[in-house]
Amino acid sequence: MLHLPDPPSARGWCSAQREAGRSVGYVPTMGALHEGHLSLVRRSIEENDVTCVSIFVNPLQFDDPEDYKRYPRDREADRCELERVGCDMVFEGTLSGFFPELESLERIPLQDPGPHGRGLEGEHRPGHLAGVRTIVERLFRTVGPCRAYFGEKDFQQCLVVRDLAEEMGFPDVVVCPTSREKSGLARSSRNVLLNDIERRRAACVYRALARARELWRSGVHEAESLRAVMREELERADVAVEYADIRDPQHWQADSPRGTMARAQALIAIRVGGVRLIDNMRLDAAGVSSREQPARGPGAERRHAAGKH
Ligand code: PAJ
Repeated sequence: MLHLPDPPSARGWCSAQREAGRSVGYVPTMGALHEGHLSLVRRSIEENDVTCVSIFVNPLQFDDPEDYKRYPRDREADRCELERVGCDMVFEGTLSGFFPELESLERIPLQDPGPHGRGLEGEHRPGHLAGVRTIVERLFRTVGPCRAYFGEKDFQQCLVVRDLAEEMGFPDVVVCPTSREKSGLARSSRNVLLNDIERRRAACVYRALARARELWRSGVHEAESLRAVMREELERADVAVEYADIRDPQHWQADSPRGTMARAQALIAIRVGGVRLIDNMRLDAAGVSSREQPARGPGAERRHAAGKH
């Protein structure tokens, strides 16, 4: 696997691949890679001739400097994992590398995340989605036309990034299902910051989402009732809830006028042990999350755990 230190060399490599007639798959990440990230990389490898991954912990998207400081970083392990799954190229960068035209990095102009940036993450993490859109625009310009893979776990990010790609005219954005631990807890780089007790408590997020989906399937499509059942489950686990909400995934509306949803995405953000976790689930049948994950028995889970360092 090729390791490139900066955006210009990555841009050169990606252009050369396209010129040679190869399709490029791309997975942007902030490192501390886990099985969720790797599921995106594997999908990209399956669907493209070559695959590249970027690792850049983007300071522009952290609304809390402490969170940025303690964000897990392990480049060695990341490179090993990428090599193991068969990634072709990984690149890194710095703010000055991504914004070479700026004399000062003190004031990088942030892009407006647009209508999908309103509410939920937009409200609870001011500036976060603007920071995401700003860096992703640079990442897309670096890699150029390709298929870019994002995880549905960061649902609102997917919407914002899709809008960006549409405006830019590239890349094709592919949204992939959320990879979960056995307890249902969505895999996240921040999970390593949880102790065992916190990790068990964090599983209430999945239970809350699953209960909302059950309720939906039993015919209850009122946002208020769906929200209530999630709140009840979260309160039982005694975690700090930032939001537990229902949105129409197409129109990004909080509620339909009569309160009955035609489509519904349930979205949750909590804090447990000082760690912020988000997750979401499509409640009606049409979403990405309704697609089952590839069957993996407990043996496969153990084999994977044993292979990790
Ligand atoms: P990061 O949190 O490292 O995530 C990189 C990609 O992996 C994102 O598309 C995210 O949605 C996906 N991902 C994370 N956990 C996942 C899981 N459990 N299942 C499936 N996919 C998962 O998201 C970012 O980085 C940044 O905001 C970035 C897009 C790189 C811009 O800085």
